[in-house]
Amino acid sequence: MYYEFQNSAKILSGDFALENIPHELKSLGAKKVLILTDKTLEKIGTLQTVIDSMSGKDVQIGGIFTDIPTDSSIDVINEVTKKYNQLNCDSLIALGGGSVIDTAKGVRMTLSQQKEDIMDLAGCELINYGKHIPFVAIPTTSGTGSEATLVAVILNKVKNIKMEFISYFLLPDVAVLDTRMTLTLPPKTTASTGMDALCHAIESYTCLQKNPMSDAYATAAIELIRDNLEEAVKNGSNKNARLAMANASLMAGVAFSNSMVGIIHAIGHAVGGISRVPHGDAMAILMPHCMRYNKDKLEEQYAKLLLYIAGDEVYAKTPKEKRADTTIEYVEKLLNKMHELTGLNTKLSEAGVKEEDFDKIATGAINDGAMIVNPKKADYEDVIQILKGAF
Ligand SMILES: [Fe+2]
Repeated sequence: MYYEFQNSAKILSGDFALENIPHELKSLGAKKVLILTDKTLEKIGTLQTVIDSMSGKDVQIGGIFTDIPTDSSIDVINEVTKKYNQLNCDSLIALGGGSVIDTAKGVRMTLSQQKEDIMDLAGCELINYGKHIPFVAIPTTSGTGSEATLVAVILNKVKNIKMEFISYFLLPDVAVLDTRMTLTLPPKTTASTGMDALCHAIESYTCLQKNPMSDAYATAAIELIRDNLEEAVKNGSNKNARLAMANASLMAGVAFSNSMVGIIHAIGHAVGGISRVPHGDAMAILMPHCMRYNKDKLEEQYAKLLLYIAGDEVYAKTPKEKRADTTIEYVEKLLNKMHELTGLNTKLSEAGVKEEDFDKIATGAINDGAMIVNPKKADYEDVIQILKGAF
């Protein structure tokens, strides 16, 4: 067995983590930073909290770009790259969910390679480090783990596909988990993103590239989600639950960034690209169905996961041969609980997927990179059956 593992992002986690950003940027050689965020975070005051935390410090805010849409796209990346150069900035802060952080990753990669169009880098397996652009990621959702992954998912509007860029050079220098950043996240988004984090941990633990390090991060993340997701949904102002979910999301991100994901993400990427279903919603809906599909190959791993997802008492009293099924039932129970508490969709039809798009979705899914590392090889017909089951 051979594996590689890297998590080079420095993690600042907890109360007043934001106040340490200028110091970190300065130590990375930055003087003038461009902040990337979205309109909602500007409106609800989250951006202002970050600006205030940086005032009077050594690093100047050179510009703020608030027009990042829900799905980071090639056009936006190229636009921000242009703005960064026009403003003579020397570093980046991404403040937001997965799409803002992924946009910043795309911008950083384009800048570091001194390109103007990210499409010049599509499909490049081997790029050199290039110019170092200091990069701080501040997640405002607890789900994608993008602040600690080497993956950026970018929407190609022309082809209607989500493109994946994977490189160690996409890892942020600093990941900031500040308790103030997720307190106002609505319950439904908390549920959706939390299910995405759970999916990262489960797929990381079961994919072909799993390794002892990614397993450790994955199982620790599952325990935190088990103990804190419901509370974070019910009582969003509970700082401890919010911080635990932020830590869980980051750890699940480190886990899958150093192993991979699998069929749930392969189908989920296609569902997101074609039917525009939010990523976490797609993960939550597809998870139990895909786990049942994979079960004959993953009996042992799913059985082991029962300890983390249900706790020691349930694990101990469940007969060995029933543990894998019980793990899947717990995932389903959690999904139903999230539906009950927030109205999170439990079916693809409710999420806006049309049956006539199954063909395109299945074709996209079997060609998705995440499918390669799924322990069970799925063909077109298998995906159609999963989609019908989740419809
Ligand atoms: Fe995901």
